[in-house]
Amino acid sequence: MVTGASGAELAILLVDARRGIQVQTRRHAFICAMLGIRHVVLAVNKIDLLSYSQTVFETIKSEFAAFSGHFNFHSITAIPLSARYGDNVAAHSAHMPWYHGTTLLGHLENIETGVDLIAAPFRMAVQWVNRPNLDFRGFSGTIASGIVRPGDRLTVAASGAGSTVTRIVTMDGDRPEAIAGDAVTLVLADEIDASRGDVFAAPTDLPDVGEQFTADLVWMSDTPLLPGRAYLFRVGTRTVSGSVTKLKYKVDINNFDHIAADDLGLNEIGHANISLSAAVAFDAYDDNRRTGSFIIIDRVSNATLAAGMIRHGLRRATNVHRQILTVDRAARQKINGHKPAILWFTGLSGSGKSTIANIVEARLAGRGAHTYMLDGDNIRHGLNRDLGFTDADRVENIRRVAEVAKLFADAGLIVLVSFISPFRAERQMARELVEAGQFYEVFVDTPIELCRQRDPKGLYKKADAGKIANFTGISSPYEPPANPEFWVETSDKTPEEAANIVVDGLNALFY
Ligand code: ADX
Repeated sequence: MVTGASGAELAILLVDARRGIQVQTRRHAFICAMLGIRHVVLAVNKIDLLSYSQTVFETIKSEFAAFSGHFNFHSITAIPLSARYGDNVAAHSAHMPWYHGTTLLGHLENIETGVDLIAAPFRMAVQWVNRPNLDFRGFSGTIASGIVRPGDRLTVAASGAGSTVTRIVTMDGDRPEAIAGDAVTLVLADEIDASRGDVFAAPTDLPDVGEQFTADLVWMSDTPLLPGRAYLFRVGTRTVSGSVTKLKYKVDINNFDHIAADDLGLNEIGHANISLSAAVAFDAYDDNRRTGSFIIIDRVSNATLAAGMIRHGLRRATNVHRQILTVDRAARQKINGHKPAILWFTGLSGSGKSTIANIVEARLAGRGAHTYMLDGDNIRHGLNRDLGFTDADRVENIRRVAEVAKLFADAGLIVLVSFISPFRAERQMARELVEAGQFYEVFVDTPIELCRQRDPKGLYKKADAGKIANFTGISSPYEPPANPEFWVETSDKTPEEAANIVVDGLNALFY
């Protein structure tokens, strides 16, 4: 794919003449269409190995044309070439007198790209606030789209605050004008509030500001996308937490049909609803590919998992207002005599989570605490009875119980949660739902061999015999906590001793 200063507008799809159009080619063509790439070059390479055959070239060309017809590319330029010998790369090939079209480089030089981002409304995400001394304050960033000149009015998209550009400062001195792609520092006439992540925009044509939108996703990781899982979303220069609330469909690349899906695997393309933890400024990708695209990042490994194109904003969040409550958390704490907390027990099936949590609850209640227990086996009979044990269902299981735990903590209770909760990402998400210091992760660390010996429900026996699919520790992963508040090794302790470790560590909750 070729990217100029203004982002991708032209793509080269490389086809091996010996193999012809592959599933890959179809996938890449589809992604190009989704990205709004207007000009496609179909480079039919290694034609030398097929005696420079015109028939082969024409067949590949028409096969591509047949399925890409409805993608609305402005131009499709098929070029037969041999990258190895340079045929039709920079100079016309003497081996293919039948070909009268352009060479690859000739085509790249002549095609016009980069115009639409300059014509689009002004957008610049603030990368940093440049304040070397009291006399200078500028906002640095790369102009995503449009043009700016001193005297122009700008608006901070999220707050609506506005000011006038007084200077455009660059490494090479002040400039009378800057355009999409330029890295600049803007000095404004007024002391307005803006910081990293904010987007400056033309006041006459503002971007959307919201927490929810629909988007097309290209998944690029071996670990599949799971709806409900918390990821980081980088939109412009902002990075916020969020999740896919609904995967609406994925694309069958063979016929471009939409098919229902619970997850999205490596190289798959899907359409989804996305909900972020904070509002961001964005445009629809069709209007502005810079401010309409984002990436999804893994919270633990920091790896890039997906690229996304925003299709449109969802208005739900704007019409659902949070109610301000008069009996607040502080009032409830006073009545209760203790702070609320979530004690999150995690560990393998049969590790002793529920047994230990039960004793902890009894001890806390003995001290007059208001408690409530949320237990996996029980919740799965009610609230979560629609869920099984696939990764996707476990993510949803934990998401729901984390939300419920948050409500109970908000009600002033000490909530004990006892779920295998095998994935780090969801436990981290649960932690972030409440204030710092309110979440206590209790890792009930029992070696799988010991769980297997105890096997209180006879499940290991069944799982080992292959009668239970996706069994944690056997055919489904368990990711142990790296830094739990309580690390309780049970092999050398009675459940009472294990419970004491937790209870003794909770004195700070009581007044
Ligand atoms: S979680 O992984 O989604 O957190 P949860 O704690 O709700 O699991 O449920 C685990 C309980 O379900 C286990 O204690 C066991 O009784 C039962 N169970 C049934 N099938 C499985 C399975 N495939 N893997 C783990 N537990 C299972």
